[in-house]
Amino acid sequence: MIPSIQIIYASHTGRNQAIAGHLQAQLAARAQTVITEISQADAFDLPNADAVIIACYTYHDGELPDEAQDFFADLQDVDLERTKFAVLGSSSKQHLHFGRAVDYLTMQLNSSNGEQVADSVKIDQDPDDDDYQRIDQLAQQVLKSFGI
Ligand SMILES: Cc1cc2nc3c(=O)[nH]c(=O)nc-3n(C[C@H](O)[C@H](O)[C@H](O)COP(=O)(O)O)c2cc1C
Repeated sequence: MIPSIQIIYASHTGRNQAIAGHLQAQLAARAQTVITEISQADAFDLPNADAVIIACYTYHDGELPDEAQDFFADLQDVDLERTKFAVLGSSSKQHLHFGRAVDYLTMQLNSSNGEQVADSVKIDQDPDDDDYQRIDQLAQQVLKSFGI
């Protein structure tokens, strides 16, 4: 089986966009992947994918980025029908609510009847080697959930 995996990202200064691209490169050999910027993503389309991975930064005071708000609101009305998912994000430990957007998205995707197949990953600013290992592990766990 070749799963279709939607990779959705929110990125202001490019880190999460680069993480999304890295994930796509990791998955490309064994999955069909599409990358979408979050303001262009349709939450109601997610049940059509086999899995969704969201990479999102945190903004304001521990909030989702503005451009992610519509997607997040729509997500509350979606039944993911056990679509597999994983969440990660570069944000910054210099802020009080480190990576809070990752927590919000993880909670909402679970509430919307998704199946979480990897622990969520928070990255402090630019990913280092350890972070890339955790990102790659997340990608492997998504693939493993399909038995590949
Ligand atoms: C105005 C502002 C507010 C931020 N607020 C938070 C925050 O509350 N929590 C957090 O973890 N990071 C916060 N960040 C840090 C960003 O999430 C971090 O720089 C992230 O790596 C940006 O990702 P991007 O390069 O994909 O845009 C904030 C950054 C800015 C500029």
